[in-house]
Amino acid sequence: MGSSLVLERAKRVLVGGVNSPVRAFRSVGSNPVVLARAKGPFVYDQDGRRYIDLICGWGSIILGHAQDEVVAAAVERIREGHMLGLTCELEVELAEEVTKSFRSVELVRFTNSGTESVMTAVRLARAYTKRKKVLVFEGCYHGHSDSLLVKESRDPESMIGVPFSAGIPDEVVADTIVVPFNDVESVRRALRSHRGQVAAILLEPIPANMGVVTPEDGFLEELREVADREGCLLVFDEVVTGFRVAKGGAQELYRVEPDLTCLGKVLGGGLPIGCVGGRSEVMRLLAPEGPVYHAGTFAGNPLVMAVGLATVRSLSSGTYEVLEDVGRRVGDALLKLASGFGEGPVLNRVGSMFTVFFTRGRRVRNYRDAKSSDAGSFRAFFDALLKSGVLMPPSQFEASFVTVSHSEVVPELERSLGG
Ligand SMILES: Cc1ncc(COP(=O)(O)O)c(C=O)c1O
Repeated sequence: MGSSLVLERAKRVLVGGVNSPVRAFRSVGSNPVVLARAKGPFVYDQDGRRYIDLICGWGSIILGHAQDEVVAAAVERIREGHMLGLTCELEVELAEEVTKSFRSVELVRFTNSGTESVMTAVRLARAYTKRKKVLVFEGCYHGHSDSLLVKESRDPESMIGVPFSAGIPDEVVADTIVVPFNDVESVRRALRSHRGQVAAILLEPIPANMGVVTPEDGFLEELREVADREGCLLVFDEVVTGFRVAKGGAQELYRVEPDLTCLGKVLGGGLPIGCVGGRSEVMRLLAPEGPVYHAGTFAGNPLVMAVGLATVRSLSSGTYEVLEDVGRRVGDALLKLASGFGEGPVLNRVGSMFTVFFTRGRRVRNYRDAKSSDAGSFRAFFDALLKSGVLMPPSQFEASFVTVSHSEVVPELERSLGG
């Protein structure tokens, strides 16, 4: 059955034809792509058309689609029983990989999604500090739990978040303070106005959800200092960056250690996962050792653990050299092409994750800058890529990703993009 028929059927039984809104392609105004299969750097749509994939499972695929070792691990696990429901050695092995890779992490708890990992981290921070408020940054995304579903503050004075979904009462976000990214003065001001009340400073250390934005020199270090001075926890949401920008995530790259770390995406090698980890003193507050509740039927599921293990065990320092080289070449080729769609496009990139903005040469260092990108130029750029067989995330405010397997298509990509 062709893509258009699947889409028609989808609209009859799935809300908006999708299970996650960005997949509806509304912000680029084109028909959604319906995918059937994937191998290496390629995805194939329902009509058999091949694309070079820059979505890469929204950052969860890092080696390449259907990579041999990962497939073998999954098949073996399914034969052995993929749902056990009690503790299994694979959970211990994956937890050991996390504690080996992230110096700041002594103990971990697996969850089923990034959303749950951040929700649990916030609950832990509140219990540990006995404080209520959480400071987050404009344009960062921490999953769809109610109190974190804010993108901007109501006004620069109160700094209280505005829910960006219906169904979330203002009271639920009243303890969520929102300040601009890369602006340590605003953080200081917020902490002064809410002295002794902030449980955690929570951020994507390299935001990916306003498009990619990089932390400026010293920003993360200053947050560490401020958190220590104020007695609140520093929580890094490394759901995207963990195992992606370095084996030990953004905290390895920038040498700043948070108190709690949230992981997801790459850690599950493309299967649903989340993980919260940190110092044992904080983590031991979780049930059954402490009073902070978290549980999950599928938490630590053996199939997810097996696929995650096969993935993270394949990641060496050489992997990150390949990812840097591929990311640089693909990013440069895209930037060159982008100049045909708007004056002065800007590329923000860290290793294998990047975003092209159309801001007429203006640097993009926070959400307001990202929002000033020209939507029409992005749409035309996205369409041109799609026509030439390159599938980019269908939104300006998403990161593009490459995998190790993309190294085999870099010359083709450079050629097709006129690089
Ligand atoms: C930084 C960040 N945190 C949390 C999440 C939520 O993860 P999940 O979609 O697995 O619930 C995402 C999802 O894209 C994310 O990018």
